[in-house]
Amino acid sequence: MITRETIEEVKNRIDIYDVVSDFVSLKKSGQNYKGLSPFNNEKTPSFFVVPAKGIFKDFSSGKGGDAFTFVMEHEKMSYAEAIRYLAKKYGVEIKEDRSSTESKEVQSERESLYILMNFAKDFYKNTLTQSEEGRSIGLSYFRERGFNDRTLEKFELGYALEGWEHFSKEAIAKGYNKDLLEKTGLVVKKEDGSSYDRFRGRVIFPVHGLSGKVVAFGARMLGKEKNQPKYINSPETDIYHKSDVLYGLYQGKNAIRQHDVCYLVEGYTDVISMHQADVENVVASSGTALTESQIKLIRRFTENITVLFDGDNAGIKAALRGIDMILRGGLNVRVLLFPDGEDPDSFSRKVGTTEFQKYLKEHTQDFVSFKAGLYAKEAAGDPIRKAESIKEIVSSIAFIPDPIKRSVYIQETSNLLKIGESVLLTELNKILIQERRKNEKENLRSQVVEETAILIEDIGGQVKIDPQSLVYYQERETIRLLLNYADQTVEESKLSDFLLHELEDVEFTNEVFKSIYQKFKEAAHHHQQIKSDYFLHEGNDVIKSAVSELITSRYDISPHWGDKFHIHIPKEKDMLNEMALSNVLRLKFRVVQKMMEDNLQKVKNAESSGNWDELDKVLEIQTGLKKAESELAGSLGIVVAK
Ligand code: UTP
Ligand code: MN
Repeated sequence: MITRETIEEVKNRIDIYDVVSDFVSLKKSGQNYKGLSPFNNEKTPSFFVVPAKGIFKDFSSGKGGDAFTFVMEHEKMSYAEAIRYLAKKYGVEIKEDRSSTESKEVQSERESLYILMNFAKDFYKNTLTQSEEGRSIGLSYFRERGFNDRTLEKFELGYALEGWEHFSKEAIAKGYNKDLLEKTGLVVKKEDGSSYDRFRGRVIFPVHGLSGKVVAFGARMLGKEKNQPKYINSPETDIYHKSDVLYGLYQGKNAIRQHDVCYLVEGYTDVISMHQADVENVVASSGTALTESQIKLIRRFTENITVLFDGDNAGIKAALRGIDMILRGGLNVRVLLFPDGEDPDSFSRKVGTTEFQKYLKEHTQDFVSFKAGLYAKEAAGDPIRKAESIKEIVSSIAFIPDPIKRSVYIQETSNLLKIGESVLLTELNKILIQERRKNEKENLRSQVVEETAILIEDIGGQVKIDPQSLVYYQERETIRLLLNYADQTVEESKLSDFLLHELEDVEFTNEVFKSIYQKFKEAAHHHQQIKSDYFLHEGNDVIKSAVSELITSRYDISPHWGDKFHIHIPKEKDMLNEMALSNVLRLKFRVVQKMMEDNLQKVKNAESSGNWDELDKVLEIQTGLKKAESELAGSLGIVVAK
């Protein structure tokens, strides 16, 4: 048990911004910070850190809490592990209660998985150099591949002896229990209840998590026996999710940050050989297609990825898929092709460090020129193939989130393929519009998030935002919707009917909005339509100016932007349903907040004047309002401070 004092000491030193920014890149937003959710894949930031409160809130996953919670959620740590981690980060000495010294069984399960994996790593590592078989088979294999001592140490390479239970026996003798052995995947259980070591007679490549803990192993066979997989890997476990791990990232992260580029290769041995050629900014996706979360991992250290692959066709096809993934993730991608039949491992050993580094420098290509070159060969003299390849390239460009980068690539493609820019643009816009349609909901969501940010700031306690101004904002938004879209259909009725019905019990506070709203109400009562023109002709000057401002849509600049940056801005009209609904909820929410504030004043008055009957009454009202507030907040996905 870690002592209370230690925990307090850690708490005192924690800076939530500092803790979170080890994992998420944050931008200042008012008093707070925001960034892309590390728990979900998203394009618009909905992850907030509120330093004043020492909390984070992630609107896309609903997760939230303090620095401990963040570390636990993000690194999948137990509470105790999180304390240790943060204590280490802030240089707090950990004191433990002697009365309850942790035994191996009592430690949290994940913690014990890590401990056992570490034990296994040391076991295989020692076997490599300390046993006869390890030296004559494992070590000599690594030597044959040219791995030096520094490399063996850096990657903690090892050897698993031939035989069914060398490892299990040793682990059990050291007090690890059988269940745990299975849970790490180091031991495989048979149907009859007996079990055996997963890795036998193979060289061992430990896979490290970002913090340097071993989370898995890859075990390569030595000979060229048929009927056996080249590698046997750890299965997925509580501490190992294949798609979230990159081989070499732990050893290479500093170099990646320093060189501001990350080389991506296929295999363990490619990573290792490149380190030996003094290229340390390299990771491997370990034989599988690159995943979104792996790309996000890299993104913590650099925005530039160079994909390295061998010249054969299978390699190229796989690389092409990877490229689109990376582009979609908002990273810059370059490509490097090795001569036929060579991979980074074989090539670096063949040509040596200097030549290899020179090759990397000189042969790295931009992905557009790479793709163009690829298709130019295939499509020579075939117009249909050429058209297809143009579409192929443009569809990759469409994955790039940044419009300015997109237009640069379009220009480049136009030059390379000798085809008009406008043709490419038309094609690009076609794809983008399709994409945007799909994303419109997401766009709306981000709008809600933006506004929620204002609320959080409020909750953060530093800047107190007047609920009155939020009510004003929301009333204004309601009138704006009415003026612009009164006769559009939402929720199977006319927008004006929907809003009037939903807001029946809401009293507008702003006089101008109130009178406009009143006119809509009266018209509806007489089954009449009212148009914004009406106010421009009939209203007083204040109303006229308010209405004319509100009917100039805030999306009016869109056609211009569209021309300039080739972006399609979602039509508000297409999102009315969600807008009307969330507007109603938000207006009510803010009205309730305003009422709570007013009522709170009454509570204080009743208290100070000792009017107990009144106090009872207003407290009851306050409770009711609080309940309404949290229900509305629930529907809106907003956290309300207790
Ligand atoms: P490679 O076959 O290129 O392996 O597969 P390698 O690591 O470069 O090995 P050498 O150079 O032939 O010794 C690339 C990656 O695919 C995964 C491993 O992660 C490997 O590093 N793989 C490959 C497996 O998981 N299982 C296999 O049977 C083969
Ligand atoms: Mn290989």
